[in-house]
This record gives sequence, structure tokens and C-alpha cells, in this order.
Amino acid sequence: MENPVVTLKQASKSFVDGKDTHSVLDSVDFTLATGASVALTGASGSGKSTLLNLITGFEPLSSGELWLDGENTSAWKDPQWSRFRHQKLGVIFQQFNLLTPLNVKQNIAFPLHLNQQKWGDWCDYLVEALGISELLDRHVSALSGGQQQRVAIARALAHKPKLLLADEPTGNLDHKAGLEVMRLLNKITTQGNTAVLLVTHSPECANFMQTQLVLDDGKLKRADLNKKQASDISYVES
Ligand SMILES: Nc1ncnc2c1ncn2[C@@H]1O[C@H](COP(=O)(O)OP(=O)(O)O)[C@@H](O)[C@H]1O
Ligand SMILES: [Mg+2]
Repeated sequence: MENPVVTLKQASKSFVDGKDTHSVLDSVDFTLATGASVALTGASGSGKSTLLNLITGFEPLSSGELWLDGENTSAWKDPQWSRFRHQKLGVIFQQFNLLTPLNVKQNIAFPLHLNQQKWGDWCDYLVEALGISELLDRHVSALSGGQQQRVAIARALAHKPKLLLADEPTGNLDHKAGLEVMRLLNKITTQGNTAVLLVTHSPECANFMQTQLVLDDGKLKRADLNKKQASDISYVES
């Protein structure tokens, strides 16, 4: 069987604040298979962004292991992290984080340059599927929020990463635009066999993903979005 894209084994994260140590993630086990999709919910401050930051390598684990695409990251240094981020990872944030001096096409092409790739059929497909093919020459600051987020999705996926991390990508959009962005994101990542870890507050957005999990008291649990509470088992996908 193919390696999972992400595996966390007994992963813990705490932050030191003066004399206090503040535990955010407590012995989390988590697996994301190739092409699988997981929604992560949880109260504000429950550690959702911290979990994503572990996977991007911007925060080190306090203990436990992180495996990415079959490799244990514990000995990774900057070159290994850069290679992973450039080749295999796409990220979308609530604030679209587009490069404002650039136009739409230049934004989307940005990760291609990092990988010495050229615009190809996949990028044509992306902009068609996202409905932004008419906007390629426009400056990103002139676009609506929904349009900007669709450009951000195209940029995150232009180099066909194995993994997409999305941190509340619909948080700055109105309800209708948010659901449209989710529908498109889900369609494209299914088409590209991209694994997705989506942080969201919206049960409707979470329902686009195959699996719904919740962070609660440092533990990762299965979410029952209908009951809005977590069951008591910790979650590992086999
Ligand atoms: N770099 C940091 N230094 C210290 N504390 C942090 C840092 N990042 C996050 N935290 C703390 O970790 C907890 C979880 O934060 P976060 O992961 O941003 O939550 P969420 O995304 O679920 O709202 C919060 O209490 C936050 O203050
Ligand atoms: Mg957050």
C-alpha cells in the first residue's frame, strides 16, 4: 500500500510561557492517506492551526513523530523542509495571502517557478474549474473575496501537491461564496487525488470531507457534527 501523506504518532505540542508550560496537543495519532480528506473542527484556541503548523514544519513537535510521504521528519533540516513545501504541499489561509503586486496568472504560477515547472494542462484545468480563466490578467486587489480565494486555491494546487492544508479558507467569505469555494475545492482535489486537511468552523463545509474530526482538550476525536460533540475515542485511520 502507498505510504500515507501524513502520519502523526503520539504527537504532543506545548508552548512555554515563562515558568508555565501550556499543553495544546496531547499524544495525537493521526493518519491522512493519499487522496483522503479530513475536516478538523474545534473551539477557538483548541490547537487546529497548531496542528497544521506542525505539518508544515513551522512549529517543531514537543514529542512524538511526524512522517510525511513515508519519511520520518525528525532529522529533517531546512533543505528537506523546503523540498517538501515546494513540491508536495499546498496551503490556503483565511486571509487569501495573495501577492498583491502580481496579477492572477503570476500568483498562480508562483509555485511553478519554485519547481522549475511551466504552466500546463493542469493549470488550464484549474482556472477553468474555478471559473477564473477570464481573470488571469487582472490585479488580485481588484477581485472580490470569493474570486481571491479561488485564485489562492489555484495557486495552492498549481504544482499538483500531494497535500493541501486549508486553515478556515471560507472564514472571510459570505455563506454562499464559502459553500461555492468548498464545492470547487472538493471537486479539484478529488480530480487531482490530493489529500486534504481542512480546518473549518462550518459543519456544512466539514461535510464536504470524507472524515470529520474535532480537537478537544488536546485530543483528536471523531466529530459527530449533528450532535456537535465528540465521542471519546482517539482517531487513527487504518
Ligand atoms: N507560537 C505560539 N506561542 C505560544 N502559544 C501559542 C503559539 N501558537 C499557538 N499558541 C497557543 O496555542 C493554543 C492553540 O492555538 P491555535 O492552534 O491557534 O488554535 P485554533 O487554531 O484552534 O484557534 C492557543 O492557546 C494559543 O494561544
Ligand atoms: Mg486557527
